[in-house]
Parts: sequence; C-alpha cells; structure tokens
Amino acid sequence: MTTNLSVNINKIATLRNARGGNLPNVENVAVDCERFGAQGITIHPRPDERHIRHDDVFLLRPLVRTEFNIEGYPSPEFLDLVLKVKPEQVTLVPDAPDALTSSAGWEVAENFEFLCEVIERLKDAGIRTSIFVGTDIENIKMAAKTGADRIELYTGPYAVEYKKDPAKAIAPYAAAAKAAHNCGLGVNAGHDLSLENLAYFKQNVGYLNEVSIGHCLISDALYLGLEKTIKAYKDCLKDK
Ligand code: PXP
Repeated sequence: MTTNLSVNINKIATLRNARGGNLPNVENVAVDCERFGAQGITIHPRPDERHIRHDDVFLLRPLVRTEFNIEGYPSPEFLDLVLKVKPEQVTLVPDAPDALTSSAGWEVAENFEFLCEVIERLKDAGIRTSIFVGTDIENIKMAAKTGADRIELYTGPYAVEYKKDPAKAIAPYAAAAKAAHNCGLGVNAGHDLSLENLAYFKQNVGYLNEVSIGHCLISDALYLGLEKTIKAYKDCLKDK
C-alpha cells in the first residue's frame, strides 16, 4: 500500500527564528517540499512559538495543496486555532507546553473523556483526527473507542532499538499496526525516522498510511539538498 511522506517543517522555522528575519522562508520551503514530492506538510505550533508561529499557520493553509497536518496538545487555544484553519488532519499529542519534543504517546484510558470530546469537535468540523500513541495494544483498542480516525505510532523507541536489534525493535510496531487496523484505525508513524531506519520500518509494518518526518530529513537536506533528500525518503517507502 502507499505510505505518504509528510515533511515536518518545524526545524525550518527554528532556523528562521534564530536571526529574526525571514530566512529561510518557511512558507516557500513548504511549497518546495510539495514540489519535490512530499505528500503532506506537518507543523507543531507550540504555545511559546519557538519554531512555527501563529501567523505561519494561517499563511501556510492556502499554500499547502497536499495534506496539512497540525500536531499539538489540545488546549483551548490550540483547538481554536485548528478549528479556524481546518487542516486535513490534526494529530493530538500529550506533551506539556515546555516539552523539548513529543517523547511519549497518550495514556488513552486516563484521558478518555477528554479525548472523546476533542475528537468529536474536530470530526464535526470535518477534520481527520489522529492520536499519538505507543505500541501497547490495549491502549490502541481504547484509542479506537475515542472515535479517532487514526493513530500515530511514536517511533522514538524503535529508532533507538533498531541500532542494536532491528528484528526486536520492529516486532511491537508490526503488532500494533495490525491491531490498529483490526480496530478500524488508520496508521501513521513518526519520531526519529531516518534514512537508516525507515525502509526497514516500511517493509515490516503493515497498513502504514503516513510517516511524518522532520529532524533527520532536514539534517540530511544540509548534505543532499531538499529535493534529493525527499526523493531518498520516498524511495524508502516504496513497496519492495
Ligand atoms: N510526530 C510527532 C507527534 C512529533 O511531535 C514529531 C516531532 O515534532 C514528529 C512526528 C517528527 O519527529 P522527527 O522530527 O524526529 O522526525
């Protein structure tokens, strides 16, 4: 099956913000990522605006022609923003406002009613919903009960374990994706996916609708250029 590549452009905004001007231009980079083959653009507007700013979200909306995916903790401010902007997909992450990056998925049972309410509001607005989770099967079954359309599997632990034992690293992800599919959920994945570990992930995890990749992809682009990098990541996602 086709697995789409959504490029997370937070790091482009981090670089721009370092100097206070508009270089690199986040909006132009998003358009170019699509031109080079990205099938989605992901952003994570954080309350402190340390990378993507509030304004970026509105500027990007009409420019993104593929799939606009906005990640974030569903605070009232975040929900107001996404309900105004109406991206194709919202990915709900449980991280605190000051988190360096998302480093764990939701404990769905503990947040069940909250998630159900948020998902209902997003679905009423015609927005596809995805919940960021680990590989625990019971947690994934609970995720299905919230009404979410998809899960996004947190692949940080996979990336670490892959370096030591790829077969051991992948097993829980293959099982989690299968369980999600059996519950009617679509499957996304993201965090620390790279040119080193992505092809193995794709080849061994079924039902994968989308990967969202930022840090490694943007780092690779420093050496390969953005166009070649996006093509290289897409090659990893081809069915072999
Ligand atoms: N998915 C989620 C929920 C994230 O928070 C991030 C990081 O912003 C990613 C995917 C992408 O991770 P990485 O930058 O390591 O590719």
